[in-house]
Amino acid sequence: MKRNKIVAGNWKMNLDFEEAQTLIEDLETLLDEKQPSCEVIICPPFPYLELATDEASEHELFEVGAQNCAAWESGAYTGEVSAKMLDSIGVNCCIIGHSERRKYFGEDNATLAAKVNLALKYEIVPIFCVGEVLEEREANKHFDVIRKQVEEGLFHLDIADIENVIIAYEPVWAIGTGKTATPAQAQEVHAFIRGLVKEKYGDDIASQIHILYGGSCNAKNASELFAQPDVDGGLIGGASLKAEDFVSICEQASK
Ligand code: PGA
Repeated sequence: MKRNKIVAGNWKMNLDFEEAQTLIEDLETLLDEKQPSCEVIICPPFPYLELATDEASEHELFEVGAQNCAAWESGAYTGEVSAKMLDSIGVNCCIIGHSERRKYFGEDNATLAAKVNLALKYEIVPIFCVGEVLEEREANKHFDVIRKQVEEGLFHLDIADIENVIIAYEPVWAIGTGKTATPAQAQEVHAFIRGLVKEKYGDDIASQIHILYGGSCNAKNASELFAQPDVDGGLIGGASLKAEDFVSICEQASK
């Protein structure tokens, strides 16, 4: 089975409301013109999600993801945003376990597994991020680290649920650093992750699950990365804030 490609833009904590409006308008113009065949997802900060979902349902040019959700259903968790709330405004997916959440907010695999469960409960596709830090790669521990993240974050799911998960491999040393994994390094880890999924869930699930690459993926290197057999698209940070670059990446995922 040939997997379609997916390109997701992680805006992180950038842009004010007016800038977000402009970026969405520019994306709409370019996506309408170029009509890339890949699946396009934008993940703006919480305050702009409803604007994005309104635009998404009107123009059907992209889907909308959140960058995080709460590990609890509802209640006295000041400052948190639940999966149910996201669902109620038409959000389709949610980044879970981004390395910045793991690092700055102390999110561990058990917390992330709870978030994954709640997202799935409300039919939100988790984009579950894994990846090693530089010292782990240098010590050749990256496969162990990634295995643990995947097993503890996802492998409690049954087949019906794992089918609805996207995995993103984001080597932490490549995020926002301009230092991309080589296509061969990305392919090696993506094939490893697909192998883990195969061991646990079998061939069918392994061959249909999407594994995105993230970490300094841009309009210049996307083609080569996306040409790897186990790279099913990208999770794009910095380059998702420029409409031309992001749409160029979407076009490269559509070849
Ligand atoms: P970057 O970020 O493309 O700016 O490296 C990717 C990510 O963190 O999702």
